[in-house]
Order: sequence, then structure tokens, then C-alpha cells
Amino acid sequence: MPSTTPRTQPSRKTATRSAAAPRTKTPDAVALLRADHKLVSELFDQFEKSRSTAKKKQLVAQICLELTVHAQVEEEIFYPEVQAALKDKELVPEARVEHQSIKDLIAAVEGVEPGGEDYDAKVKVMSEWVKHHVKEEQNEMFPKAKKSGLDMAELGERIAQRKEELLAQEQAKH
Ligand SMILES: [Fe+2]
Ligand SMILES: [Fe+2]
Repeated sequence: MPSTTPRTQPSRKTATRSAAAPRTKTPDAVALLRADHKLVSELFDQFEKSRSTAKKKQLVAQICLELTVHAQVEEEIFYPEVQAALKDKELVPEARVEHQSIKDLIAAVEGVEPGGEDYDAKVKVMSEWVKHHVKEEQNEMFPKAKKSGLDMAELGERIAQRKEELLAQEQAKH
């Protein structure tokens, strides 16, 4: 549901905006989530190449932040809409369980000093789980969601807004 709170920018695009319009200000939901996936995958690649403890620590902090916020917007906004639109009993519940496994690994490395024998292994396993999870979202869930007729532009706006809030909250904690 679009918010009734007036936004700061004029609403001139509202009438013409659709998921197919490439000039929409906020990317549609799937484009936005895919961009997050790409960013995290690049961060994992950088981690793998990194030899500096300080750099590893910084990369892991960023990976954990990005994944935490990404998982939360999917769980709060995207998954419930997809589940309802697809009358899904499988894809979304499995995705939630996978998120939980990823969160357990986040908890195991977040704020921990790199260097311990299992540290790199935990980050490696986390990257593999994320890769598997992303593949299922991008190959199965997203195409089905797109075909379901969900308003991806509107969902994209809600996701972008919520991401901003959550990033600010998370950054304030550190
Ligand atoms: Fe996910
Ligand atoms: Fe995702």
C-alpha cells in the first residue's frame, strides 16, 4: 500500500510508473535485491583475496551488515508478498530457514577478531550458503514472483525505504 505521507519529491511520475519503465527512480524490488546479492558476492571475493587482518575484519563487518539488512527486508516485505501472491508453501519457508543458518554464521564471526583457525572457514561456509541461497532466489523465486503480477515498483520503494532505516539503525549501534 502506498503511504499517505507526502514524499518530498513531486509525484509526476506516479501515473506512468510501472515495473517495465526503466526510468523509475527507485529500482524495482527484484533489481534492488539482485544488486544486494552482487555487492555481497563481490565482498566475499575481496575477502578471499585479502591477506590483511584489518581488511578482513572490515570486509566481514560490511558483509554482516549488508546480509542482516537484506535478510530483514526480504523477511518483512518481500517474502510475505511473494508467499501470498504465489500461495507458496515451499520456496519462502525454505528461504527463511536458510536465512536462519546464515544468521547463525553471522553471529559466529561478527565482531570476532580474524586469525583464529576457524574464522576463514566460517566466512567461507557463509559465502557458500549465501551463494546457494541467492541462486534459488534468482533462479526460482524471483522469476515466479515477477510472473505473479506483484507491483515490483511499489515493493521496490518500500524495500528501499526500509533498507535506509535499517542501515541507519545498524550503523548507529557500532
Ligand atoms: Fe534471502
Ligand atoms: Fe536475497
